Amino acid sequence: MYQEMDFDKIDISSEPPVVEPARQYYFMAKCREWVKGFEQRNHRLPCASVVNMGCQMNARDSEKLRGILLEAGFEMAEEEKGDFVLYNTCTVRDNANQKVYGHLGALHSRKKKNPSLKIALCGCMMQEPKVVERIRTTYSFVDLIFGTHNIFKLAELLYRALTEKKMVIDVWESTDQIVEELPSNRKYPFKSGVNIMYGCNNFCSYCIVPYVRGRERSRSPQEILSEIEKLAGDGVKEVMLLGQNVNSYGKTLKEPVSFASLLRQVSQIEGIERIRFMTSHPKDLSDELIETMGDCNKICRHLHLPLQSGSSRILQQMNRHYTKEQYLELTRRIRNCMPDISLTTDIIVGFPGETEEDFQETLDVVRQVRFDSAFTFLYSKRTGTPAASMEDQVPEAVMKERFDRLLQEVQKIAFQVCRREAGMVKDVLVECVNDHQKGYVSGRMGNNLMVHFPGDPSLIGQIVPVELVEARGFYYMGKMKH
Ligand code: SAH
Ligand code: SF4
Ligand code: F3S
Repeated sequence: MYQEMDFDKIDISSEPPVVEPARQYYFMAKCREWVKGFEQRNHRLPCASVVNMGCQMNARDSEKLRGILLEAGFEMAEEEKGDFVLYNTCTVRDNANQKVYGHLGALHSRKKKNPSLKIALCGCMMQEPKVVERIRTTYSFVDLIFGTHNIFKLAELLYRALTEKKMVIDVWESTDQIVEELPSNRKYPFKSGVNIMYGCNNFCSYCIVPYVRGRERSRSPQEILSEIEKLAGDGVKEVMLLGQNVNSYGKTLKEPVSFASLLRQVSQIEGIERIRFMTSHPKDLSDELIETMGDCNKICRHLHLPLQSGSSRILQQMNRHYTKEQYLELTRRIRNCMPDISLTTDIIVGFPGETEEDFQETLDVVRQVRFDSAFTFLYSKRTGTPAASMEDQVPEAVMKERFDRLLQEVQKIAFQVCRREAGMVKDVLVECVNDHQKGYVSGRMGNNLMVHFPGDPSLIGQIVPVELVEARGFYYMGKMKH
């Protein structure tokens, strides 16, 4: 757990320590000294911005990166104002990659006007050697590149980028190291993501995540629980436990622990009122977990359970380790235990070899399960994954046509499902002032849907009962109950 540091006590004239995290504290102190010089020259503090381009795990990494930058003496600013701009990239689909190149183009013109601007890239996309090569040759104005395994090293790398002239590149192929005790700057005071594991061992045949995030590593329950206790002490009411496949949490620890048992321990922490988690792989979702969710009212009645495809044949090609029937049976078991649960999912359209019949199977599951919402994706070919070299890649026009049909179906159902709680009174965690309607605030129910209702900013961070007066598409308008 990170404790506030007194950086003046660190001797920065000596050699840097070898052990972590002491080494990073040393470099934070070095950066602070650099910042003093900047301040004298410019009569202001240097600004940094971290742009998050990926999933919740990336978002959590960005909070850690911001925490380090703040300790290094920087102020945080919008992307356009940063003296140091760091992109935390994603590479799960090709459009995520294209976005990065777009941003780089724009930054290049900014850097021509302001050569002291420092540009850094990190995250999943940087774990791909061909990407780093392209940036090195085509975007040589970039100052710093690092990957997913060494974000804890930001202070050291930042110091090098600030003081060296050439591009600094430090990408690790893999790691078994988990460096704890680093600062973090949370986006919300009342809710926080908490990593419980890193990496993924599943190798779904379309997916690049195991290659860029490395093998599955679970954090110890003690580290997780003490982080959450500290968060609760800081006023956090809701935690989201994060991992690519939380259902396999703890299996590789020296003393194995099940995810359900971790959840039970988290639910005993005083002050934590809501627990969420992401993502659940259907193949590892245990009855113990369903029971635990049913028993424990702090665990939100929401499961994100990616389906990917409704065709057992395609699921096998995807290496998902479940069939259509098993998925349906699993959702039945979940709903038997928790009839009010909200089920959401991810679906990929146009996986290699997908026929109209396969696609109809997907539509069939969507109609049977009636998801509260679904993220739908066009299959994107990721170099190096087994699916990329499969025959029968689906033509883009066919893919798009199926995608539109799926989206229509998903939205039609979600629209109906989302209204089912109209008239009820539900607990809502108030998150922010509503930008569109004066005098209104917005918050989230346990099932993750938003509710907007009249209220003042003092409610932010509180959990209050709200009557769901009117369902409007995918959100509600409500009225607070006193
Ligand atoms: N670990 C999570 C998913 C992480 S990626 C899980 O297994 O559920 C988030 C989503 O992106 C996946 O669920 C999948 O639907 C989608 N996705 C991953 N690779 C993709 C690809 N190559 N093309 C299109 N969508 C993809
Ligand atoms: Fe990718 Fe599959 Fe791992 Fe999810 S479980 S991150 S889809 S390989
Ligand atoms: Fe993207 Fe990496 Fe997350 S590839 S989806 S940011 S784990």
